[in-house]
Amino acid sequence: MSHIYIMHVKKAIFPVGGLGTRFLPATKSMPKEMLPIVDKPLIQYAVEEAANAGVEQFIFVTSRGKSAIENHFDHSYELENNLLTKGKRKTLASAQEMLKIPGSYAYVRQQEPAGLGHAIWCARHLIQNEPFAVILADDLIFGQSTTKEMIKNYSSGNMVAVMEVDKQKVPSYGIVKVDNNNKDLMQISEMVEKPSIENAPSNLAIVGRYILDHKVFDILEKQERGSSQEIQLTDAISSQLGKVPCLGYRIQNERFDCGSKIGFLQANISFALNRKDLSSEINNWLKTLTR
Ligand code: G1P
Repeated sequence: MSHIYIMHVKKAIFPVGGLGTRFLPATKSMPKEMLPIVDKPLIQYAVEEAANAGVEQFIFVTSRGKSAIENHFDHSYELENNLLTKGKRKTLASAQEMLKIPGSYAYVRQQEPAGLGHAIWCARHLIQNEPFAVILADDLIFGQSTTKEMIKNYSSGNMVAVMEVDKQKVPSYGIVKVDNNNKDLMQISEMVEKPSIENAPSNLAIVGRYILDHKVFDILEKQERGSSQEIQLTDAISSQLGKVPCLGYRIQNERFDCGSKIGFLQANISFALNRKDLSSEINNWLKTLTR
């Protein structure tokens, strides 16, 4: 009899320290992770995806000016009391749906914008000898099941989510080379952060979902600055290739790059089209545009 053993990944890190300069002026005093897709901030989609995967502890790597995120995942007594008094139970439920048992959310500050690898390293004291997930809220994936599927397929080492991108977009991503590109789970043999089109080993790009072995912290500790003069997570994972297994998981659902204006707008329209309470109205309106 064969047994499928599913690893329990209890913790997820959400790097939310970025400045969000691509969304100025909207993000001048508001974290970019609080930008809404329909009526829910990007970071809530990410946290819900993690919870849906069985994650119990949510670690945010923040920076100055990100306190709105902490408040979002806490009680808002005035608001809740007001809704309760007015008997608006449904609205109250939506204001409370992100509350978890005390101690589930932890925040650590990244004091300088030194890159994704540096952000992850800042959370090292909150992770023990255990694998953990990393979710980049900017990368919004339909279905909120990607992390769950990755954990299902994870047994040891490192795993990154991947998808094919247009050749012109290759310099914006971490790019991987795999041995078996026709599968959904692929052995990665090479990884490079933001290569030029000429030097890219493929057009298979890393999407913001990772399941990582805690040993990556030892590598990050000594990791030199790479692309954009930042400490890159891709470089740290790459330096373990050959010693630690590294799988690429092909995402199964549509992904929106909500770090870009176009991706953000597309996500809002697509998610609205997917909502029972909005789909017919938005659909009708979209039709008037194409007439
Ligand atoms: C980060 C990673 C990159 C990955 C991308 C996915 O880059 O460094 O490897 O492909 O996220 O969104 P960033 O978009 O933060 O520059």
